[in-house]
Amino acid sequence: MGTKPPVLISQERIESRLRELGADISRDYRGADLIMVGILKGAFVVLADLVRFVEIPLRIDFMAVSSYGMGTSTSGVVSITKDLDLDIQGRDVLVVEDIVDTGLTLDYLLRTLKTRGPSSLSLFALLDKKEAREVPVDITYRGFEVPNRFIVGYGLDCGERHRELPYIGILEEEKGY
Ligand code: IMP
Repeated sequence: MGTKPPVLISQERIESRLRELGADISRDYRGADLIMVGILKGAFVVLADLVRFVEIPLRIDFMAVSSYGMGTSTSGVVSITKDLDLDIQGRDVLVVEDIVDTGLTLDYLLRTLKTRGPSSLSLFALLDKKEAREVPVDITYRGFEVPNRFIVGYGLDCGERHRELPYIGILEEEKGY
């Protein structure tokens, strides 16, 4: 198995940032009919940690989309492989994503969700790989900006590996992690 990918953002930094953003969400959505939508699989860790810092009632749902294959490059093809269980019409929807890279996935997803008539639709992204953006995406709650490298850990994978790491790391393929 070898050594683990090097740390880019530690567990402690993630936790304190989520605490801040959770407080922002609690303030901004007070009195709202909030549904937080995690995008599978990558967002399962951040969604689970984030909701524990949100101090207002909310509902949780998931969607799964396929945009990447098993490797590290984007295909540009997006399809919904698991749709929402809840009806979002007239609700306040906060999409929770692990990382925005080219922006193609989120652009497609947000346009699709908008057609269903939510009262509001915003985006939380733990990581923003700004340099890689191909289409603009409006991120309301952003955890960290990251360099244009392949990121793993804390829910993010490379070919289904490394999701379990408690921190955010950088993949150094030449070292065989
Ligand atoms: P986008 O459509 O290029 O913005 O990519 C969005 C999706 O690609 C994310 O939800 C991730 O699943 C995946 N992705 C993009 N960059 C990375 C990365 O550095 N590590 C792991 N997954 C990534």
